[in-house]
Amino acid sequence: MDGAAARIEDEVPAGAALVDLVQAMADRPIAIGQIGQTLDGRIATVSGHSHYVNGEGALDHLHRLRALVDAVVIGAATLAMDDPALTTRRVPGPNPVRVVLDPSGRALADRKLFTDGQAPTLVVGPYAPGHSERLDCGASPGRVLAALRERGLRSVLIEGGPRTLSAFLQANTLDRLHLLVAPKILGSGKPGILLPEAATMAAALTPHVTTYRLSEDLLFDCRFTSREA
Ligand SMILES: NC(=O)c1ccc[n+]([C@@H]2O[C@H](COP(=O)([O-])OP(=O)(O)OC[C@H]3O[C@@H](n4cnc5c(N)ncnc54)[C@H](OP(=O)(O)O)[C@@H]3O)[C@@H](O)[C@H]2O)c1
Repeated sequence: MDGAAARIEDEVPAGAALVDLVQAMADRPIAIGQIGQTLDGRIATVSGHSHYVNGEGALDHLHRLRALVDAVVIGAATLAMDDPALTTRRVPGPNPVRVVLDPSGRALADRKLFTDGQAPTLVVGPYAPGHSERLDCGASPGRVLAALRERGLRSVLIEGGPRTLSAFLQANTLDRLHLLVAPKILGSGKPGILLPEAATMAAALTPHVTTYRLSEDLLFDCRFTSREA
């Protein structure tokens, strides 16, 4: 592809990726992973500082994803470090049900998800602090998705962090991965995806990828065709 063609492809706005996603959601339950990273694949500094890796366009895109899905899943470390609200406050649209994977029961009761009343919160773990409810299913990705679907939560966003996202990727449960890449190089920090060591390049996952521009960032919309019916 020559330079001019590459630039034209990059100008396709990310809304087109969402239209495609909505069409897929109409057909069947869907699980979408998202991760925001630097050019060198870092999602946070070594100490865990991650606000913000990506620019405003990518943040809007993440909030639009939240508005489209029924539920958003995060891991216990993200709850502890970021205290996210997981709402759609940057865009119009309903807040999703919020789900925390906390099998060791370390979630702090003062977190926004348990206190702000913005949307229901489910906890996969031994305790359900504040205004939350236990989802009694075990933390394996397949079981979590099955339990959510039993409740009618058919479209699910796996928002992070890396350990949670990678568990869903490794378990072959993701239909899509929205990889948001910021034009920054950190040179140190936490990697976005963690899978078992690959012996050769033949072990690499090879999703079908479409690229969109999100102001200064790029969205890599990765489609795992083996998951499609
Ligand atoms: N850039 C981004 O897009 C983005 C998005 C979200 C978060 N973050 C950053 O990511 C960092 C935290 O990520 P992280 O990878 O360290 O942790 P994490 O994925 O947020 O949480 C990991 C923990 O969640 C529990 N868990 C998740 N999935 C599980 C499973 N399938 N089975 C059993 N337990 C499971 C475990 O808790 P226990 O160990 O207690 O059992 C695990 O240690 C923070 O720095 C945050 O700022 C970045």
